[in-house]
Amino acid sequence: MAAGIATETRLGHLPVPLCGLAGRGPLQFPLYLRTTAETLVLYRDTNAQIAEDQLERLFQEGVRELYIRPTDRGVYLHRVEVGLAEILNDKRASVERRADVLHGVAAMVADEVLSQRLDRDGLQRVQRMLVGASSLVLREKGAFGALRGMLGASQSLSQHSVSVSFLTMGLARQVMGADPTTMVHAGLGGMFHDIGRVGNEDLDHDPDHTERGYQTLRQLGLPVEVAQVALSHHERWDGTGFPQMLRGQAIPAMARLVGLVDVFDEVYSTQKTPVGVFDALRILAEAYRGCFEDGIAIQFVKLFRQG
Ligand SMILES: [Fe+2]
Ligand SMILES: [Fe+2]
Repeated sequence: MAAGIATETRLGHLPVPLCGLAGRGPLQFPLYLRTTAETLVLYRDTNAQIAEDQLERLFQEGVRELYIRPTDRGVYLHRVEVGLAEILNDKRASVERRADVLHGVAAMVADEVLSQRLDRDGLQRVQRMLVGASSLVLREKGAFGALRGMLGASQSLSQHSVSVSFLTMGLARQVMGADPTTMVHAGLGGMFHDIGRVGNEDLDHDPDHTERGYQTLRQLGLPVEVAQVALSHHERWDGTGFPQMLRGQAIPAMARLVGLVDVFDEVYSTQKTPVGVFDALRILAEAYRGCFEDGIAIQFVKLFRQG
């Protein structure tokens, strides 16, 4: 896992793929075109309309991305959130660039949705983002690796939830197979495993967040497989977890995956001196011996070895 969300250029502006910029009303931010390694020129100013054929012309001329100011990133992400599936499907942009857009949208959506009580609108935003993520990861080699490389140490509940969501998707693909429904459920389970903590993020010990999360997710009509993740992600393979002290196979399968990923992200993110991914995996294996199913732990390590 590495750097930040979007790669900044030496010029300080952020590259964005051409796709997803056309339509949707006037631009709320200026777009820049790179003319030399060091130069950006204004391509379209705020309030301009931009059409698909203009972007297509740029593409024909060899342009692969335009640039935005770092301060416009939030507005840009809101604009592309609605058309995310289409952007992720557009192979004119590199898989890394599309993974970057996906990660940016995921971080923004998680930040906004998890800052208040979860409602249907928030749930829909997360679902739409995860459907796009799952099809990108399933369709394109290298997509998961690109996404994984963007996940840094988690500083907040929303960052933690995004990391757990994407890593659980990758783990589910290896352990449970690659059907899109499983992938989206894995992503939802990861994203909402700690939903019961929203509003109580500062509590160090809050075992009731599991039951609260389960109730919230069931009330919103999420599948039981997803809601069980909130309830059972602190259960441990050897029976030492909570709230029900379930053991082994009695722990719902998706909750076993999220349980491992959850602890990994915490270990990775909370060391006094920052550690690399493989150090975090080693600490996890030593400090949590017996807590997780061996087969799942092995697959999880493999996730970081593959591209
Ligand atoms: Fe938790
Ligand atoms: Fe967690």
